[in-house]
Amino acid sequence: MARKAQRSQPQRPNQPADRWFAYGTLPLRLFLGATFVYAGLQKISDPGFLQPGASTYIGTQLQSFAAHSPIGFLIQVFALPVPQLAGIGVIAVELAIGALVLLGLATRWAAAAGALVNLVFFLTASWSVQPYFLGSDSIYVVAWITLVLLGDQGVLTVRPVIFGPPGQGDSRGRPATTDLSRRRLLVQLGGASVALVWVLALLPRGRASIQAASSSATPSPAASPIASPAGTRIGALADLQAQGSLVFQDPTSGDPAVAVALDGGSVVAFDAVCTHAGCTVSYDSGAKVLSCPCHGAVFDPAHGAAVVSGPAPTPLASIPLQVGTDGGVYAA
Ligand code: FES
Repeated sequence: MARKAQRSQPQRPNQPADRWFAYGTLPLRLFLGATFVYAGLQKISDPGFLQPGASTYIGTQLQSFAAHSPIGFLIQVFALPVPQLAGIGVIAVELAIGALVLLGLATRWAAAAGALVNLVFFLTASWSVQPYFLGSDSIYVVAWITLVLLGDQGVLTVRPVIFGPPGQGDSRGRPATTDLSRRRLLVQLGGASVALVWVLALLPRGRASIQAASSSATPSPAASPIASPAGTRIGALADLQAQGSLVFQDPTSGDPAVAVALDGGSVVAFDAVCTHAGCTVSYDSGAKVLSCPCHGAVFDPAHGAAVVSGPAPTPLASIPLQVGTDGGVYAA
């Protein structure tokens, strides 16, 4: 009886088992906080992030996101008119959230803001990534929600330094009364949020699946000139070979596209929409690769636009080319 009564007593906070549980939240908190601080610093250290015309310019990224995101209208209204301000805002928010979480100050509120930021990234930067688990933002949302539910548990925070030692009650100095209905509501909200992210992740995305299917095609080198080439003339072969590349609009899909003159004289063309999250790739004539400004994916045009590095899951979609006896290059 005595053992049974002892077992049924609720555990008090700060018992050894609770402390171990509390420390269990620390790796998640440190990782998320440090990652957000790093993400902010990385944008600050990128000289092209706020520079129009640069390959990593935030305005270019926002344009791509607006074109492929279910919340693209919000980007068009609020971010695209002031891209640099939006970029500075993202940096400030990332640094603030990361610092608060690392310091253990307003951890739950900061984690909720982090979940919101990553949800926006998930609906924009990662929206075209298929399947969803190849994009990182969905798991960040879930990780932030977990931190919202758990809080920092009073472990390694600067609160005692700033606000003084905790008084009676829980580790944060608040009354020990357990607000069960509030906790239950938090857990239910957290569960609903995770379920929502998962459902969103599983929604079909037409563009991405079309790209995945077509990207297995092999690029067509322009062989000997044809008297009556099929397709739309995109430019002169002499210009393409002199410049190294030529941007045009894919006559079939309407997407931005790029033709590249390879060593040896043949020409290839690809849909310029990155298979990671839909940004527009451009040709780097120095490195002879196609690179994406958003998350750094690199594709090799000489090998079917195969992914050389970065997060893109598949090669760029190939566009067949023909060269006419008139010296023109035609996209079929
Ligand atoms: S959109 Fe992310 S690497 Fe291209």
